[in-house]
This record gives sequence, structure tokens and C-alpha cells, in this order.
Amino acid sequence: MLEKLAALKQSFESDLAQARSGRQLSLLRDRYLGRKGGRLTLMMKGLKSVAVDDRKEVGRSLNQLKARIETAIETARQRIESESTRQESAGITLDVTLPGKRRALGHLHPLTRVRRDIEEIFYSIGYSVADGPEIETTYYNFEALNIPEDHPARDQGDTFYLSENLLLRTHTSPVQIRTMKRLRPPLRIICPGTVYRRDNPDATHSPVFQQIEGLAVDEHLTFRDFKGTMEYFLKAFFSEGTRVRFRPSYFGFTEPSAEVDISCTFCAGSRCRVCKQTGWIEVLGAGMVDPEVFRHVGIDSERHIGFAFGAGIERFAMIKYGVDNIQNFYQNDLRFLRQF
Ligand code: PHE
Repeated sequence: MLEKLAALKQSFESDLAQARSGRQLSLLRDRYLGRKGGRLTLMMKGLKSVAVDDRKEVGRSLNQLKARIETAIETARQRIESESTRQESAGITLDVTLPGKRRALGHLHPLTRVRRDIEEIFYSIGYSVADGPEIETTYYNFEALNIPEDHPARDQGDTFYLSENLLLRTHTSPVQIRTMKRLRPPLRIICPGTVYRRDNPDATHSPVFQQIEGLAVDEHLTFRDFKGTMEYFLKAFFSEGTRVRFRPSYFGFTEPSAEVDISCTFCAGSRCRVCKQTGWIEVLGAGMVDPEVFRHVGIDSERHIGFAFGAGIERFAMIKYGVDNIQNFYQNDLRFLRQF
């Protein structure tokens, strides 16, 4: 038995010397120590038939050989692994002249850019940003703004109602009410935000869009301050050469009210398709705050004067960037967005 063991050991050592890979080592291990047909395993099973007197010594030798095989295979495995990583890293050379990997950097959505541009202009003249909820009560969205019960804007067909008294705000004007209830004049705020109207989507309408509303309330404001602020803003946003004109209009919450036009940025006023041959493009609704609105928020209209204006951010973006379909802003087509 001991002789057979010595022969087995020798055959293992020569097999081991041939093994070149982790896989070959695994096969080697199976050949000698495999649970079923391993050569050493079989010999261990044969221990029972060894004469009792010899059994102890043979058993010890069997165990020694088993331990030898295990450590030898483990050592060989480590050697092979470290050699292969050394070879791999030796093959890698660093070519510093290769172009780097370009990381795809995103950028702001054109509507976000326009909104921020407008905010910057107003920050520069002392305004701050105010915020309010997109789900509003009929009181803040209509009543406090002096929009009467039977006004068409209140119609189910124009407004998304969530219940009798709750709706998705149709403009950002309720934020001026909330702010005037919260803060005392002098006030200078702009309120950007999402608004909702039941319009069918087409090239110039979207049921969800962005507005920016402005409000100034102080003791000695005049219509000239209002006009001057509008002109300053529109020239700063579009260009210094932009001309601005005011047309009389009507809003429940302003009196007098105006629609504000700029000279067409596409034909500089010489009439084209975009300005429908008029030379002008409408960009704002605005006016002097109606005393009735001040009454709702508890501001003394004998002492305080206000002006307010509201603009569609999409419209500003369309004019500034020459986009002819509002839907482009919502389709997230990268071919469109990458142009900004
Ligand atoms: N809220 C008006 C609209 O949505 C715009 C506006 C704001 C008009 C402030 C006058 C003053 O059409």
C-alpha cells in the first residue's frame, strides 16, 4: 500500500508540473481528489482492507498526501493567476495622444432658458420670484381677480375643474393675489409657472403651458412707470432696437388694460407672414391693477398704485428662436432640443 502511495505521489508531481492553467489544475484536482473516482479517494476507501497493524501508518500517509496535493494545487493556482495578471497589465500601454472619451453634456430646455433670462432681467431691476399652487380655488383664480361669475373664461369648456371650487389654474395671476395677501407694499414680484387651459393642441396652443406674471405695487407708481418697465424688459429680452406699442384691451383685474406688441423680429416691422403683414407681434397682456383687486387683498387703493403683466413663455421662446410650432417644446425630440 505504501509503495502504491509513493507511486501515486510521483505521478501527481509530474502531472502538476504540466498544468498550465486554472482549468487544468481543476481537472488535476478531480483526478486525484474527486469524490467519486479520484485516485487518492479510492485508496482512502481501500484503507479498510489494510491489516489493522498497518492501518494507522497508512492512514497517516494517505492524509499527508492529500494535504500535499491540496496545498500544491492551491500554490500553483495562485502562481498562474498572478502571472496572467502581470501579462495582461504588461500589454497595456498608455497612449496619451488618443482623443479622450467625450461625455455627453445635457443643457437647459429652451423654455427653462427663456424663463431664466426673463427672471434675470427682472432681478436686475429689483424684482423677486414668487410661487403659488397649480391647483387653485375659483376664488384665487377668478373671483379675487374680479372675473365675474358669467365670464367665458370660467366656462367648463375653457377651464379644467377638479371640483366645483377647485381647478387647474388658468393663469399665474392668482399668485399676485396670494402674494398681496401675504406681504405689504412696496412689492415687486414675478411669478413664473405652469398653467392649464382646455385648448386643443395646434401650432400655437397647448393645454399646458408656462406663463410669467409680474406685479409692482407702490405709492407713487404711474402709467409711465408701467410703460417704461415693459419697454425696458422687452428691449432687454429681444433686442435694443425692438419697438414697443400699447393697445387698449380689457382684463377684469387691470384698469386701464393694454395689450403690448413688439415690432416684428422677423421682418423688423416691414410686414411678413409671421406678423400677419402687420409689422407687430403681440407679446403681453397688462395694465394698472384694478382697485377692486386691492379691495380683495386689503390694500388701500387711495394710497397704492400697481401694475401687472402676464406673458406666455412659449411665445417668447418661439419669437426669440424662430420656432413655428409650440408642440416642439413638448415632444422632447432631441433633433429639436439640440439646436439650443
Ligand atoms: N392673466 C392674463 C392672462 O393670462 C395676463 C395678464 C396678467 C393681464 C396681468 C394683465 C395683467 O391672459
